[in-house]
Amino acid sequence: MAKKQKNDRIIIFDTTLRDGEQSPGATMTIEEKILIAEVLDSMGVDIIEAGFAIASEGDFAAVNAIAKRTKEASVCSLARAKSADIERAAEAVKPAKKPRVHTFISTSDIHIQYQLNSTRNVVLEQIADSVKLARKLCDDVEWSGMDASRSDPDFLMKAIEIAIKNGATTVNIPDTVGYTLPHQFYDLITRIKNTVPNIDKAIISVHCHNDLGLATANSLAAIQAGARQIECTINGLGERAGNTSLEEVVMAIKTRSDALKFNTDIDTTQIMRASRLVSSVTGFAVQNNKAIVGANAFAHESGIHQDGMLKNANTYEIMSPESVGWTRSKLVMGKHSGRHAFKDKLKELGFNLGDNSFEDAFNRFKTLADKKKHVFDDDILALIDDRVMQGGTIPYQFIALEVSCGSKTKAKAALELKVNGKKQQVISSGDGPVDATFNAIKKLIPFQPQLELYQVHAVTGGTDAQAEVTVRLSLDGRIVNGNAADTDTLVASARAYLNAVNRIATIEAKVKPEKAALNS
Ligand code: KIV
Ligand code: ZN
Repeated sequence: MAKKQKNDRIIIFDTTLRDGEQSPGATMTIEEKILIAEVLDSMGVDIIEAGFAIASEGDFAAVNAIAKRTKEASVCSLARAKSADIERAAEAVKPAKKPRVHTFISTSDIHIQYQLNSTRNVVLEQIADSVKLARKLCDDVEWSGMDASRSDPDFLMKAIEIAIKNGATTVNIPDTVGYTLPHQFYDLITRIKNTVPNIDKAIISVHCHNDLGLATANSLAAIQAGARQIECTINGLGERAGNTSLEEVVMAIKTRSDALKFNTDIDTTQIMRASRLVSSVTGFAVQNNKAIVGANAFAHESGIHQDGMLKNANTYEIMSPESVGWTRSKLVMGKHSGRHAFKDKLKELGFNLGDNSFEDAFNRFKTLADKKKHVFDDDILALIDDRVMQGGTIPYQFIALEVSCGSKTKAKAALELKVNGKKQQVISSGDGPVDATFNAIKKLIPFQPQLELYQVHAVTGGTDAQAEVTVRLSLDGRIVNGNAADTDTLVASARAYLNAVNRIATIEAKVKPEKAALNS
């Protein structure tokens, strides 16, 4: 293999906590963001974009807390080209060992005209002013030209030159709407490298969205043309169809090192841990056939493939499941497994829980093991819901549910909850057992969310499998997901609904007034 050159190193910039959180329903609490940031840091991500500090008190607090705790990675906050944004971002990342401010403004005519209601000249002035201010407050400044791939190239070159002249150390070229094609993006990055006079003073970064399923391909084309930073997210989370997925670019670079002469500092064996954590926190299940982290990514179904695999794994595997953190044995434990083994298992799956959360998860594991002979990794993952993540400190806690239903009776649900620590009971009816259960919950909560999605799937095979339920609720334009699993589908449904309700309650309490600041 050719010897790696110093400038073959690709900087991995993870924006799961910022662009990823912009996925409808992916709102995360501060505690959840801190957990994810810890995993990103430990797996070797170079820069963690922890949020958009001006967006709310909650966003500021999350960026600030992550800045204080992160050991290795740079911690970055996004900011529009406005003084208040930039000052808030710089303040939030200040405690970080390596702070970064990331300021952006649109450079395409369509955005300048319709979104900014401005002109090219004004935008150029704003770039100079915003980058200058950011650089005054922070040594590491990234500038992005939003919708760069649809911008007039000559204007984009000018904008980049001005950003670098005023102190940008990284210039990011987003394909904001996922429109570009790999060869076009290659040409654009090549042109930037060849024509922006001061380009040698900054690192070129790319940020690709996946609207046409090309985000990874575009990012790889860009590094071949000279980009050295890739912005990406775990599981490809992000606005609309998402962003370039971290696991895809990192594994493409590693697996095809014969053709792509680059390297990253990512410990790829932690990829599954990060993927599971993000999926569990957001309630976004990873599609089975998702590259690298999907449940079927290393499953071999056909006889010919299985036969080949038994003879030599290279026949059908271009990378090993272990190299991305999959464990071959999925069977874990039963009712005789103790605390120690359970803690080890959780660690292997990516969860380092505090004492309260651990006890909660362990009790639920024991209850499950009493009902189910074999407890699989997926069963354990399904136990890790919001209540566990937040150490049991949630306003609405499930206690019990009795449901009567059938072809001759109207469904009735008798529900018992702990509401802010006080036991409450209620009975409700509905069109079927799930409707009756959700109606019962709605009687005990102070807001009336809209049900956007109700989805059930079996975690493992067999009739004793846990049902994993996802509930998506919306309230005042905010969308949240709740996930839960139980061998009883109705209990899982009630818990999933309550998890979503708890998210709404937590978010409402923390961030309600401040999002308005974004519109100022
Ligand atoms: O997609 C985009 O253009 C962005 C920028 C803020 C970098 O997310
Ligand atoms: Zn984006």
